[in-house]
Amino acid sequence: MAKSTTKKKHSKRSDSIESTLGEKRLFKPSKAFSEKARISSMAQYEKLYRASIKDPEKFFAKQAEELHWFKKWRKVLETKNPRLSKAGAGGGSFAFTQWFTGGEINACYNCIDRHLSSPRKNKAAIIWEGENFEQRTLTYSQLHREVSKAANVLKSLGVKTGDRVAIYMGMTPELAIAVLACARIGATHTVIFGGFSAEAIRDRVNDCDAKLIITADGAFRRGTIIDLKKNVDNAVTSGCPSVEKVLVLKRTANAVVMIAGRDVWWHEAMAEASANCPATPLDSEHPLYILYTSGTTGKPKGIVHTTAGYLLGTYLTMKYIFDIRDEDVFWCSADVGWVTGHSYVLYGPLANGATIVMYEGAPTYPAPDRFWDIIERHGATIFYTAPTAIRAFIRAGDEHSNKHDMSSLRLLGSVGEPINPEAWMWYHRVIGKGRCPIVDTWWQTETGAIMISPIPGAVPTIPGSATLPFFGVEPEVVRKDGTKCNPDEGGYLIIKKPWPSMLRGIYKDPERFQKQYFTEYPGLYFTGDGARQDKNGYFWIMGRVDDVINVSGHRLGTMEVESALVGHESVAEAAVVGRPDEIKGSALVAFVTLKKGWPADESLKEKLRNHVAEMIGSIAKPDDIRFSDALPKTRSGKIMRRLLRELASTGSVAGDTTTLEDFSVLEQLRAGEEE
Ligand code: WT7
Repeated sequence: MAKSTTKKKHSKRSDSIESTLGEKRLFKPSKAFSEKARISSMAQYEKLYRASIKDPEKFFAKQAEELHWFKKWRKVLETKNPRLSKAGAGGGSFAFTQWFTGGEINACYNCIDRHLSSPRKNKAAIIWEGENFEQRTLTYSQLHREVSKAANVLKSLGVKTGDRVAIYMGMTPELAIAVLACARIGATHTVIFGGFSAEAIRDRVNDCDAKLIITADGAFRRGTIIDLKKNVDNAVTSGCPSVEKVLVLKRTANAVVMIAGRDVWWHEAMAEASANCPATPLDSEHPLYILYTSGTTGKPKGIVHTTAGYLLGTYLTMKYIFDIRDEDVFWCSADVGWVTGHSYVLYGPLANGATIVMYEGAPTYPAPDRFWDIIERHGATIFYTAPTAIRAFIRAGDEHSNKHDMSSLRLLGSVGEPINPEAWMWYHRVIGKGRCPIVDTWWQTETGAIMISPIPGAVPTIPGSATLPFFGVEPEVVRKDGTKCNPDEGGYLIIKKPWPSMLRGIYKDPERFQKQYFTEYPGLYFTGDGARQDKNGYFWIMGRVDDVINVSGHRLGTMEVESALVGHESVAEAAVVGRPDEIKGSALVAFVTLKKGWPADESLKEKLRNHVAEMIGSIAKPDDIRFSDALPKTRSGKIMRRLLRELASTGSVAGDTTTLEDFSVLEQLRAGEEE
């Protein structure tokens, strides 16, 4: 897309935004930023946006030409709702849309090989820093060599195109290499966040029948070692019949047990591997990865992303929303175990030939200034992080960032949850020194790439609003009955049209896929978020409206935590709700009814919290456990969650939280409440 050479036209919307908002809240992109940006005015953004909505096929065909194809596509987009349509969505649904059908492409080739014939060949692809300050830099050509060898290792371990490979590692370069090696040969990767427990590994591995698990002897985190291999061993021993081999990176020199015939050391296998492994041409719709995420049932969903559309979505959002340049040093602080790490640590930046920073450890280790130290030393120009981290930094105090020269920064990003205006202002003032635009990016594991976000050189921002949709994305805020909300009326956020990086399904569960996303508002994609749109069309995301809670920017299903709790021998019934938390956004509060004879004491609370950590991972540990003799229910027997949420955030109705919650005082409310 050529930069517009016409003089900056004024758009009606930007005039309206300026006239209706006090200057105080409105942050216009600086002239210096806009002049250099790919999209430098509201008028230019609106023109492109309109074109993308009017004729998405034409728009995305043109964009897709920037990628490398082994074989060109036949059709840009095709919606083929199969036999299932009876079960839910019915006419007009785009649940089963495919992009660039008939084409052949490889995501790894686009992230690496494509750059080797350009001056990017010897450019840093990954600047990695270990928690203990080790440094490693991999150029594109070095990355190519390592990934090719790793791909040959996968083949030698029996992995074939279409097989699933689980990856459970810390944030090391080998994690990136493992992911890209899978993509290179068309093995579908499923990365499992290193904070998940053995039980969680087992469930995920079994759901997708992974043949191989790639792990490490350990991971450094906050000065300690997380025993990844032990968790994998426990998972496999407790029953993962599909697993044939376990490939183990030596990272911490932690003592591990290697099981003969099953376990293989990464360094030994790599030493023997050839560095010649051409990327396999894959169908556009070949499944690139499965990423498990919490939903409204007890069982996480395997979100499936395919190759061409996902790659295009991450490539384009990276290019226009982060306005990525060859000179940039891009740092997304997310773990590759989450979708943000997939899309904006790896695929998006690498597809653009960017230099990324990858950091292994904790944000505050060994001192609260670690992130700012990294930005200074590596000269990061773009920094992308989560509001929960920002709030923790605010609490730690400005002195930590003020110590560092962060003048390299030119753009900041936020993701994972609504950013409160105070955190936005601090980020802007203290980290960005008032100079860097902030892109508040709304998206989901399911959407694959950013959906609503300012284009930094074009769209004026207002703290707290993710502003306007990206190209090809048509969001709307609707009422329960599906009619469009008025400006500033809160409602449900839906997406009206397919977009290239949309999820293609829930692994092996097309019914749940259709039901979860396309039946609430027949034919439309339901995000699960509440939102409002102001009179200028800006979106304000209000958070989840389903039984999903966003804790520190990570999604947790209340049902998942509840089923972990009732799995404990002492628990009769459990209900988990969120309460506002200054740092985490939401904290988890569990109301628990015990079986007869169990003492409602502190030690049992601790046991239950640890039990949840064992079943899911420490991220799911309830912050608060409250024992009650019964849970408040409607006449039809549904737990009154709204009441519990209120109780959780305002404190105890009974006044004494150390003993049993007394719901009898709520009895009178019960009569009126039918949730
Ligand atoms: C949910 C998706 C997208 C990667 C990280 C989380 C919330 C995400 C924002 C934002 C307000 C946001 C939503 C969404 N969310 N970004 N900029 N403003 N809310 O991925 O685990 O799939 O969670 O995170 O509630 O539905 P995820």
